[in-house]
Amino acid sequence: MTRQVITASTIMAKKGAEPVTMLTAYDYNMAKLFDQAGIDMLLVGDSLGNVVLGYKNTLPVTMEEMLHHTKAVTRGTEYALVVADMPFMSYQASETQAITNAGRLIKEGLAAAVKIEGGKEIAELIKKMTANGIPVVGHIGLAPQYVNQLGGFKVQGKNLAAAQKLIDDAKALEEAGVFAAVLECIPAKLAAIISESINVPTIGIGAGNACDGQVLVCNDFLGMNPGFTPKFVKKYRNLQQEIIDAAQEYIRDVQTRAFPAPAHTFAINEEVLEKLY
Ligand code: KIV
Repeated sequence: MTRQVITASTIMAKKGAEPVTMLTAYDYNMAKLFDQAGIDMLLVGDSLGNVVLGYKNTLPVTMEEMLHHTKAVTRGTEYALVVADMPFMSYQASETQAITNAGRLIKEGLAAAVKIEGGKEIAELIKKMTANGIPVVGHIGLAPQYVNQLGGFKVQGKNLAAAQKLIDDAKALEEAGVFAAVLECIPAKLAAIISESINVPTIGIGAGNACDGQVLVCNDFLGMNPGFTPKFVKKYRNLQQEIIDAAQEYIRDVQTRAFPAPAHTFAINEEVLEKLY
């Protein structure tokens, strides 16, 4: 069967039919590889801040940084649906600023959709975005841009009021027009209830197996993250060690002149050499 370009409608149609697959990507090469592997959605997450740019959290990430990496990812993607995160303070100050910035991620970054953190309180904004032709993915539960209010990266929705608020937030996002919603760090049974209570796919990260899809940060699942690994991450490879081993082998080869070998070297005609000097 010929492979089709994934659209927001393709993602919505997967609800109840088959799980949605999503990974983060921040550059051309990684996007090209994940796209070739058959991933449904690529997220240019503002996790870019921690993972690629070395910030302590996602708060310092700017629109220009998001655009720079979104452009690289969309250049490497043929089939997957690319979602670009709206960074902290790119949508809070006013609706005009939010729509302008979301529009830039689509017009300049060539993303197919934007992701925005928050529940009921941003539902009106999401309505305006979708009414203006901007497909939106919601994001509730642990919203890393709210880390200073949440007091750390903790599992969300553990008491009655917080659990009920997450259900209400998910319904408000659906009603506002999102075509999918990320559920981050939510107890699995609560994420299952949320997933059943809305008609758009939920994409879980640390939210159990009943979500309609899953997302992981690429450096985490590849074992390429030298820092703390959250409980919800499954490391599919240990590329961190592979990369250190390869670099040490290269250092040794250069120091012992084992590299470059004749196979990596350009030749010159001996007659030319003889005529030199
Ligand atoms: O920025 C990001 O990578 C995210 C995922 C954790 C969902 O928002």
